[in-house]
Amino acid sequence: MSAAQIRYSNVAVILHWLIAALVLWNVGVVFLTGEEVPPALMESHKAAGITVLALSLVRVGWRLTHRWPPLSDHLAGWEKALARTTHVLFYLLLFVVPLAGWIMVSAGRGDPVSWFGLFDIPALPVARSRETAGLFYEVHEYAAFFMIGLLILHIGGALKHSFIDRAPGLSRMWFGNAPPRG
Ligand code: HEM
Ligand code: HEM
Repeated sequence: MSAAQIRYSNVAVILHWLIAALVLWNVGVVFLTGEEVPPALMESHKAAGITVLALSLVRVGWRLTHRWPPLSDHLAGWEKALARTTHVLFYLLLFVVPLAGWIMVSAGRGDPVSWFGLFDIPALPVARSRETAGLFYEVHEYAAFFMIGLLILHIGGALKHSFIDRAPGLSRMWFGNAPPRG
């Protein structure tokens, strides 16, 4: 079976798109609302971000216990290296970005985060400190910007393989008849 004809497992597909939707929501909320993000949307940013953190724990657990499906053999060697590097960096940033945000607000006002009005998530046990909050603001911002850069590369790659190379790209990260792997 050629590596192009397989797809990711249903669990991997669901986690991929759920996390992608939450990340895109978070980026949209801060960039589409202008200078002052309305408080309710900011609260949804925090709740969605902590959800990304929790889902990423599940996702890494899944990834480490299932073999990573080989990349499509339509990809050139350098494309494979670039794609895998992007994937690994994503896995790292899916922790760094929300964790830095959570530390920032915990060291700042230290208020709990309301999970979409359903329950409260307590602040992390870090000392209140302007310096810590300021430092993690920067980590949050730079790491998020780096992630957006990777996202552009990632989406570009997915679209190129699907629509220019006409090779299986998006279909590998979707449900279907192809045999599912990892
Ligand atoms: C912030 C949002 C996103 C993140 C963090 C992300 C992350 C990842 C990661 C880590 C993988 C590797 C597979 C795995 O272990 O699950 C992957 C695969 C993939 N992603 Fe994304 N992704 C995002 C958004 C998108 C979007 C918007 C698209 C479509 C335009 C997309 C299309 C794909 C495809 C097609 C694959 C399969 C690659 C292959 O052929 O092996 N992703 N993504
Ligand atoms: C995947 C998750 C997340 C992404 C992609 C993300 C992304 C971003 C981005 C791009 C900004 C704008 C940075 C700037 O001002 O230039 C931002 C701001 C912010 N984020 Fe996040 N974030 C995430 C998770 C979180 C979490 C979990 C929290 C807190 C619990 C949080 C709290 C904040 C706050 C308070 C700001 C506004 C900072 C300010 O301007 O005062 N974020 N985030």
